[in-house]
Amino acid sequence: MKRTHHCNELRKDHLGQTVTLAGWVNNYRDLGGVRFIDLRDREGITQIVFHPESEDAHAMAQRLRREDVITVTGKCIDREGGANPKLATGEIEVDAASAEVLADSANPPFIPDEAEKVGEETRLRYRYIDMRRPRMLNILKTRHRVAKLMRDYYDEHGFYEIETPFLCRSTPEGARDFLVPSRLQAGEFYALPQSPQIFKQICMVGGVEKYFQIVRCFRDEDPRADRQAEFTQLDMEMSFVDQNDVITTNEGMIRKLWKEVKGIDIPNPIPHMTYAEAMDKYGSDRPDLRFDMQLIDVTEVVAKTDFKVFSGAITAGGIVKAIRVPGGASMSRKETDALAEFAKEFGAGGLPTTKIEVGKLATGVAKFLEPITDELIAATGAQDGDLLCFGVDSKPDTVHRVLGELRVKLGHDLGLIKEGDWQWVWIVDFPMVEYDDKTKRWKSLHHPFTAPKPEDVDKLGSTDHDTIASIKSNAYDLVLNGSELGGGSIRIHRSDVQGKVFNLLGIDDEEAKAKFGFLLDALSYGAPPHGGVAFGLDRIVMHLCDTTNIRDVIAFPKTQNGADLMTEAPSPVDEAQKKELHLRTVLPQKTPAVS
Ligand code: AMO
Repeated sequence: MKRTHHCNELRKDHLGQTVTLAGWVNNYRDLGGVRFIDLRDREGITQIVFHPESEDAHAMAQRLRREDVITVTGKCIDREGGANPKLATGEIEVDAASAEVLADSANPPFIPDEAEKVGEETRLRYRYIDMRRPRMLNILKTRHRVAKLMRDYYDEHGFYEIETPFLCRSTPEGARDFLVPSRLQAGEFYALPQSPQIFKQICMVGGVEKYFQIVRCFRDEDPRADRQAEFTQLDMEMSFVDQNDVITTNEGMIRKLWKEVKGIDIPNPIPHMTYAEAMDKYGSDRPDLRFDMQLIDVTEVVAKTDFKVFSGAITAGGIVKAIRVPGGASMSRKETDALAEFAKEFGAGGLPTTKIEVGKLATGVAKFLEPITDELIAATGAQDGDLLCFGVDSKPDTVHRVLGELRVKLGHDLGLIKEGDWQWVWIVDFPMVEYDDKTKRWKSLHHPFTAPKPEDVDKLGSTDHDTIASIKSNAYDLVLNGSELGGGSIRIHRSDVQGKVFNLLGIDDEEAKAKFGFLLDALSYGAPPHGGVAFGLDRIVMHLCDTTNIRDVIAFPKTQNGADLMTEAPSPVDEAQKKELHLRTVLPQKTPAVS
């Protein structure tokens, strides 16, 4: 019999109808000869009852086990006294007249209802069982809806979806490339795209005017809670536009997603904050605005003491900033030590702290700051019972990084974040480049194709550090609750300007020609002004599905060490395959065990 209804469909309106359902055995119970089964399909659960009078069906039901796949035909009947208010179909059941086993299940390593009890590794190894959970199926459905809403939105706004290659030259997005050896060109490699950046720009030169793509990107970096080596972007680009056009067009898409999927209205317009303000107040270019606890510059105040830790950093050109932790005075020494350890992970030498007790500074570095107690309390707004944590370094960036991370940790630990709060912000006016002390080179904050603001183009040829550091770009990032959802910029559309930016980044003309000759050529044949943005589709779905684990929103994700536990990728390949690709493997030497 063909399936007539899904397992979340039958209600009292269907009483008396003969129906056929199909799905997995979620559960079974024997009640003195009568056997009950919860039959589950993608949409929900329906109770099936097998009475001894329907002999064949009843006999078959005796041998059913969890996760067997069956089809059942019978009458939809009233549960009468036995209704289950927790189930959408709880008022009815199907009285099985006939049933057929479509596939037996071996004893499963876990059952979907108990997936939360097993470790994530087991769930990933048996992802097909994990997927049978309503929560997982709902996430996959939401992800599908998000992709569909995005496609419809850009289509309605005149964009073409264009596929760009996966086997390409490396694109400098800042991460490590995944490489694919070429069989036909011995010793040469393709790179999997970190993003379609150059191709989408070339589509603009090609006159497409409005491009978008839902596209897989590959970056060989260590996975994190919100980062996978293989992830999906909604990537878009448009011509003859300024920064505001790109922002407005894309806000419309984001607004539509949150309205349709969550029923939530996003502020219109989403507020903007400059990069400088974000770093100054929150120590991060992706500030979590769900709580306050801003960084307060106390450099001038503490400069009045002779506490060496502070004065040393200030004399070396550094700064001192504080965060006020409301109620933090109740923290134990162990807890403040743990905060210091945390700060050190982000480059701090230590984390000076002091408590405010009855209008006075107490514990920690209190004795050094005693002469400036009143000024410090006034500058920070500190109150009795608070803890002050100081970020101090000769490099302002370090202070911002340390206190920015500490702020977010404290916000979470102290429960300062309201559930269900959505705080949106566009970060704008990024510096175009930052100096990398390790490599002694300038590097792009976004990527090398980001346009400097028109008023800063003339600074490109400068050799003065501060002048270069002051070049701003027309770049923008969309941040939600401290997470970067997307980023983009207006691009360089003139080949002479692109050449100058390459030079600034330490790529001389010869190297630029070798690596990006095709782009420079393309820009020389009439490139329209253009700009765009890319959003992390996985991250968007994470927010819409209320999870902080990116693996939850990807059907077949990779683990922390880049493995697919189900298929056991990556895996060794045979010698013949390597030979064809002109490859030989040299494995790292194993360190001998110390006896
Ligand atoms: P960017 O590198 O900022 O920009 O990437 C855009 C967005 O993609 C998401 N994202 C990731 N999501 C999961 N795992 C990762 N490893 C990962 N890396 C990035 C983030 C991020 O905001 N070509 C430019 C865009 C442009 O300029 O138009 C680019 O790729 O949400």
